Amino acid sequence: MIRPTALTSLADEAVARCVRLARLSEEAGGTCRSFLSAPMKDCHRELSEWLTAAGATVGVDAAGNLRALYAGTSSSAPGLLIGSHLDTVPNAGAYDGVLGVVLGVALLQSLDGRRLPFSIEIIGFSDEEGVRFGTPFIGSRALVGRLDDALLSCRDATGTTVREALVAFGLRPAELPRAALSGKVLGYLEFHIEQGPVLESLGRPLGVVEGIAAQIRMQFEFSGRTNHAGTTPMHLRHDAVAGAAEWILAVESMARSQPGSVATVGQVEAKPGAINAISGFARVSLDLRHSSQEICASVAGELARQAEEIAGRRGLRVKRCELLRQNAVKMDAFLIHEIEAAVRKVGCEPHRMVSGAGHDAMILAEKVPSAMIFLRSPGGVSHDPAESVNVDDVTKALECGLHLLQQLAESSEFQGRTCRA
Ligand code: GLV
Ligand code: MN
Ligand code: MN
Repeated sequence: MIRPTALTSLADEAVARCVRLARLSEEAGGTCRSFLSAPMKDCHRELSEWLTAAGATVGVDAAGNLRALYAGTSSSAPGLLIGSHLDTVPNAGAYDGVLGVVLGVALLQSLDGRRLPFSIEIIGFSDEEGVRFGTPFIGSRALVGRLDDALLSCRDATGTTVREALVAFGLRPAELPRAALSGKVLGYLEFHIEQGPVLESLGRPLGVVEGIAAQIRMQFEFSGRTNHAGTTPMHLRHDAVAGAAEWILAVESMARSQPGSVATVGQVEAKPGAINAISGFARVSLDLRHSSQEICASVAGELARQAEEIAGRRGLRVKRCELLRQNAVKMDAFLIHEIEAAVRKVGCEPHRMVSGAGHDAMILAEKVPSAMIFLRSPGGVSHDPAESVNVDDVTKALECGLHLLQQLAESSEFQGRTCRA
């Protein structure tokens, strides 16, 4: 087993690499790296260098995912996938997604050329956040063969389709089927910061994800009548923003009254957007999550009904469209058990938890046994430049990952699993 001091310096290096990649951004002075953007190319270049030095063969698939293969003892050895995403939200921190990929690199480095009975494929997913096209998981959906025509025709704010964006990045949409997983895959493992306060509040460095909450993303458009702010009496108005605002408060109170549900209106757009004009149009987003997909769906239905009721009462029209309906998923019981054993070997008590955040693991779980290891998020902060990690926790995550690889290398049950992607 690798020396503890070597693990600490690999953890230091992993953190420094996250900070370095955070500078590859579309925003000056902050981090924003969206799907198929120019800084994503730079990010691929840096990671490719580190992965090649660690003994992997690196490529980019037709969906813009970075794929690096570290061969096993034989060329036909089935594979363990380790990954996370490389895209970010606007004004992001340095660790959401990227840490999981960089920890994959560090695990290969710590193997130091040793080959396992299975290959390891490190994957840096091109899109998990869904910032550019409003719909997330484009990268991981390619691996499970779920990139259909409707998705490829989605447009970004400039009117560019996903298909056109792939071509502009130098990729061939016709080759998308080859990005899908094939052959025997043993499992998918994702390291990720928790992005919440639970592990910190319990004083635990590492968590084991047992499931990922369902999520529904929608857009609501309220239409009324634009008119003069000074001359139109209050009782003769059809103010789309006022209607949207009433609905936003209904969203908040609905989520508060449904234990376990969280609902967020993160985007608000008003037109014409003049200080002295009543808004004739308002577009608002809805992000809704619950560990039960049935409850998630019923809350979405009730919020749609309330939007109609509010619009009707105010003389507005409302249109809605659904951007994502992602079922809740369970992580693989065998891998959860093995991760818990590995966490104990590091001297920590594992904590099982449901992830409220979405992750590539929830897409991969459709096809391969999947599991996640959470690292404590200091202050519970994420999707913000203040996002951080403790180097000690990163060291523990790395050590835990090495124990896990050793356990899986010794497990005939793991290697005998017959999952075909
Ligand atoms: C990803 O960060 C999410 O929205 O859960
Ligand atoms: Mn995120
Ligand atoms: Mn993430």
